[in-house]
Amino acid sequence: MALFGKGSKGIAAVDVPPAMDAERAARLGYTHDNKLSKHAFMEGEHPVVRIEHLNKTFDGQTQVLRDVNLNVWNGEIVVVLGPSGSGKSTMLRCINLLETPTAGHILIEDEEITGRKPKDVALIRRELGMVFQGFNLFPHLTALENVMIGQTKVLKKSKEEARAEAVKQLTAVGLADRMDYKPPQLSGGQQQRVAIARAVAMHPKVLLFDEPTSALDPELVRDVLNVMKDLALHGDMTMIVVTHEMGFARDVADRVVFMEGGVVVEQGLPEDVFDRPKNVRTAQFLGSIE
Ligand SMILES: Nc1ncnc2c1ncn2[C@@H]1O[C@H](COP(=O)(O)OP(=O)(O)OP(=O)(O)O)[C@@H](O)[C@H]1O
Ligand SMILES: [Mg+2]
Repeated sequence: MALFGKGSKGIAAVDVPPAMDAERAARLGYTHDNKLSKHAFMEGEHPVVRIEHLNKTFDGQTQVLRDVNLNVWNGEIVVVLGPSGSGKSTMLRCINLLETPTAGHILIEDEEITGRKPKDVALIRRELGMVFQGFNLFPHLTALENVMIGQTKVLKKSKEEARAEAVKQLTAVGLADRMDYKPPQLSGGQQQRVAIARAVAMHPKVLLFDEPTSALDPELVRDVLNVMKDLALHGDMTMIVVTHEMGFARDVADRVVFMEGGVVVEQGLPEDVFDRPKNVRTAQFLGSIE
């Protein structure tokens, strides 16, 4: 199976049959984390994202990620919390190959994406949508063109197809009447909704959000959170969301992951992590921000 294009050789692609018995699943580390997530796991399901012993050191000395292990399942909404500098963005950037891990493995649907040739990276990255704090839209293109361009250039869709998808996704984020506006003519919240529509229009396997509301004025945050909530609750998207929006995490997350010092300190159901944190650092962090 080669998800990422013809002839792309997965390095150490994991050989797992579609239906696994529980013992084999456990031996391979495919624990379903049943008590840690609200997600309804399917029998024999594999994680969409599998992070194994991920380490990242910058400049040979600053260790930012330390043996991070995380499975994310199809349709699961995982919210990642943690203080500034805990490695949240670095983890997301490793997942979509904007950073190269120092050690460890990341697999998407059982295919290893770490250690791949540069020519494979673009193919892999289109399966991993990312919404950034700073929107990252093309300022000279309209909202519609921003949502179309990845579809035509990367997915090689026809203009008509790309336009239809862009209209659909912009309508879904409440911007049907702003499609011909350029980013400088849109509010921050509207720009972020265009960025979400753009990411969704690519139909990635996973959608990564890195503090999507942190750059917004408070009154614009709600619209963006509502769009994300709608996507989480009514779409079939797998989402990993780094955010400080605790209300969103409580309402929407299947699982909350708390990171500090490059380590996953604690993870579990939102109500457990928020109301009954097991780790003192989780409690201190939540106490300091809620
Ligand atoms: N390119 C880089 N070179 C050197 N150090 C880096 C680089 N990128 C990140 N770091 C360091 O890695 C650590 C983790 O950064 P990261 O951006 O992943 O944290 P974060 O949890 O996302 O924080 P925040 O909540 O502030 O966004 C920080 O100490 C940061 O200075
Ligand atoms: Mg960050």
